[in-house]
Amino acid sequence: MSAPAERVERPGLPYRVGLWLDERFGFSALAYPVPRHANALAYTLGGVTLGSFLLLVLTGIYLAQLYDPTPTSAHSSIVQISQDPVGEVVRSLHFWLSAIFLVTLVAHLVRTFATASYKRPREGIWLTGIGLFLLAGGLLFTGTILKWDQEALEAFGHNVEIAELLGVFGFWFSPDFTESVSLLVRTYVAHVSILPLLFAGVVGVHLLLVKRLKISPLAVGPPEEIAQRERTEPRLPFTTHLSRILYWTLVALGIALILTALRPTGIGPEGVEGIEITKPPWYFLWLYPLENWFGLRALVVMPALLLAGLAALPFIDRTPERDPRRRQAWIALGALVLIAWAVLTVYGYFTVPVSHVEEMG
Ligand code: HEM
Repeated sequence: MSAPAERVERPGLPYRVGLWLDERFGFSALAYPVPRHANALAYTLGGVTLGSFLLLVLTGIYLAQLYDPTPTSAHSSIVQISQDPVGEVVRSLHFWLSAIFLVTLVAHLVRTFATASYKRPREGIWLTGIGLFLLAGGLLFTGTILKWDQEALEAFGHNVEIAELLGVFGFWFSPDFTESVSLLVRTYVAHVSILPLLFAGVVGVHLLLVKRLKISPLAVGPPEEIAQRERTEPRLPFTTHLSRILYWTLVALGIALILTALRPTGIGPEGVEGIEITKPPWYFLWLYPLENWFGLRALVVMPALLLAGLAALPFIDRTPERDPRRRQAWIALGALVLIAWAVLTVYGYFTVPVSHVEEMG
């Protein structure tokens, strides 16, 4: 008599669907090992910045269906968006997400500075990061102009003046570049197409480099101890890291929704040309007193100095030390820059509005 055939259990449907998808799209390759410390919040900030950026793209796509970038209709199209309950929520969300994007971006920069992640061999990651910082500044600035209220018109006026100051290099930013398309329409194209595409490309290189060079080791102790721990630290699948990023991005979205409910973004009356009575939004406020003291040039020179200093950092600070407690001079310098930024911002907030129009005229 032959032995009874063994009953083989068929795996469940979800498992089989997963297998089918993995065979075709290779998702399991995402489960490569990454050091455990990469799951701490401080090491997911770059991912949350990217998550907020993707949410900005989604809300931005909705707004682009209803916004008219021609100078005669721009302001009224935003008023119309704000009168619709869904439009009002999406617009406010876009506004608050942009603030969260900037906060997480700066926090990510501060973390990578504090843990000396810019050091060899990660100089390229740092430099592409600075490119992203610049592009983020461009996205925020162009976004401010699109509202086409008084604040926007004044920012626009500064844009034109800076273009003149830059001479040949500023030509693209000036209304004289072409008579057939207004500068507002070109600013809109920069905001919804040129800058996001450049941003996506540079983020791609930034992330490929992080994947290739791996996340920097936990920066605690002398260099030899750090190297030893790097070899022995337990590793977890990258998918765990991705779920942490998703979790914190959802928290960011929750915060943006709460802020939207508490403080929906408004819009001022349509701008009047030739006067200057508003101040820039909070993230550019640090430049306001500098412009008062040193004139329009400060708006180009100070950000350029800041970016050049950041770019030079990996080539100046080349010791193998990573622990912030063993790099006190650098940490003090970083803290000084942050304090100067905060003081200028607060000063800019309380200072009496000054007109720079004469200088602009
Ligand atoms: C919006 C722009 C940015 C995005 C989306 C982004 C994204 C990321 C992500 C996902 C990581 C890996 C994990 C992490 O540390 O969070 C990373 C690592 C890194 N980023 Fe960024 N980043 C941005 C801007 C910047 C800026 C402005 C800098 C500095 C100037 C920078 C410097 C670095 C460095 C040095 C690393 C390596 C970290 C390490 O090995 O410890 N990034 N970035």
